[in-house]
Formats: sequence, structure tokens, C-alpha cells
Amino acid sequence: MGDERYYADNLANWNDRVPIHAGPDGYGIDRYVTDADHLSSIVEFDRRYLPDVAGKSLLHLQCHIGSDTVSWGRLGAHVVGVDFSEPALVVADQLARDMGLQARWILSDVYRSPDVLDEQFDIVYTGVGAICWLPDIRRWAEVVAGFTKPGGTFLMREGHPSMWSLDWERNGARLQIELPYFERPHPESFEEDTTYLGTGTMSNTTIHSWNHGLGEIISSLLAVGFRLDVFEEHRFLEWSALPQMYEEGGVWVLPEEQRDLLPLMYTIKATKVDGQ
Ligand SMILES: C[S@@+](CC[C@H](N)C(=O)[O-])C[C@H]1O[C@@H](n2cnc3c(N)ncnc32)[C@H](O)[C@@H]1O
Repeated sequence: MGDERYYADNLANWNDRVPIHAGPDGYGIDRYVTDADHLSSIVEFDRRYLPDVAGKSLLHLQCHIGSDTVSWGRLGAHVVGVDFSEPALVVADQLARDMGLQARWILSDVYRSPDVLDEQFDIVYTGVGAICWLPDIRRWAEVVAGFTKPGGTFLMREGHPSMWSLDWERNGARLQIELPYFERPHPESFEEDTTYLGTGTMSNTTIHSWNHGLGEIISSLLAVGFRLDVFEEHRFLEWSALPQMYEEGGVWVLPEEQRDLLPLMYTIKATKVDGQ
């Protein structure tokens, strides 16, 4: 199976998730309109790394239905979201309009986005289930660097590659490594007819994902001209990846006896010091 097949399957699957995520028990997008102070839980956490976005330009790669993008916008950033899913951007655009927020949405594959967006930004942001859909982390880092102004900031928070390498379909309580930690040319392929939020099933169920080791991610960012400012590993996740995880304070954690065994997420903040 070629790259185009992987891409087409993932796109069809992400398109199918949109009405589920935008519906009841999904991302709760109505709340952004009814509560003028509401922010996504992701941005509520990540804003500590970007305390002053007001007046800055911010590009959100793989923005999905825009909940994080409009949250940065609500904090005063001039936001642009990129995603390859048209239905996702339709929801994102309507959400921004309903909030009375200025935002731009670019329909594109991440790798092809420099062909349709010829701009640089003060801040480039991505994460929480984004880079696992991309086959080549070095090529991704080149895209990120190209969009970041010299002296600009890159911020990401992602699922940890150690977490992704677990057998997360396993029902037993032991943590078991099953999937590759390092990037491979060919993806891991799965069948899933439900998604992580909302109710309903998808009809396009085949997905393909790639893991990327921490060394591969950080080395790629350093190689394209970034300086690492923050690297933190977290004991929580934004979704329930394993049966033994439970919700605590709005995030998902492992039971106490497993809490220190492995990180579930990480944050990278970097400054672009080299290049154009
Ligand atoms: C889990 S969301 C991440 C965004 C954010 N954390 C959220 O939860 O809203 C993943 C997004 O990546 C997008 N995506 C996947 N592969 C892509 C690609 N090659 N180019 C652009 N967007 C892509 C999907 O359409 C989806 O909206």
C-alpha cells in the first residue's frame, strides 16, 4: 500500500469523526459561544508556556475543529489553523464566527501547506494527537521551521512515544510494549469505528499512524534551526488510552502504583535561532 492510500484512509476517517466531535458529548463547542471566558482544557494547560500571545500571529498545525485555535484567539492571538479535513474547518469557521472571533482556516496537508500559505508567524503550535498521523518527522520539522519567524516560538504538547508504543488494546493491568517506539517508513494500521469523544460510529474505519522517538523529534527540530527552551514529560494524558486509566482533574492518569513508570505526554518549547 502506498503513501496516498494511507493519506486517503486517514482523511476519510478524520472527516467521519467531525460530526461526532462536534455533536453531543463531543468537544462541547457550544460552550465557547455561551461562556465568553471558556478555553479548551488543552490551551488552559498550555498557556503557561505562552503567557503573552496577545497581538501575536499564531499558526496552529492540524487544528481539527478549531477548539484550541479559537482558545488562543480568545487570548488575543491572530490565529490561522491548518488541517486537511474540510468538514473540520467548516465547523472551526462556524465556531469562530459564532464567537465573533477573527480566524483564518487553510485546507491542506501539513506537508503541502507551505505551497498554499506563504507567511511566517510569531508562534507555531501543534499537538495532542497530531504528529502520529505524519510519516516523516524530519520533513514535518522543516515545515514548522519554515512557518516560524526568526526569533519566533514553537510549542507542542503530544502523546509520548513510550505511551504510543504500549499495547493499548490490552485489557490486562500490566503495561506491555507492543508497538515500535522509533519512526518506521510503514505505519501501524488499525480498525476503529468509534472515536475518543462523542457518540456514534464512523464508516471509514481504517487508520494508519506512525510513532516518532523523542530523539528523532528533538534532533529534527535542532537540525532545522531551533533552540530547545523547554522539554517536560507529563504523567497525564488528555484521553483514556488504557483500561486502567482514570480521570483526575479533567485529565487521565495511571493508577498510583504505575504513575511513575512512564511518561504519557511531553511538552516542547523552542525558539527559532537559525535560518530564514
Ligand atoms: C487529534 S486532532 C489534533 C488537534 C487537537 N489536538 C484537537 O484535539 O482538536 C488531529 C488532526 O490532524 C488532522 N490531520 C491528520 N493528518 C493530517 C495531515 N497530513 N495534514 C493536515 N492535517 C492532518 C486531522 O484532520 C485532525 O483534525
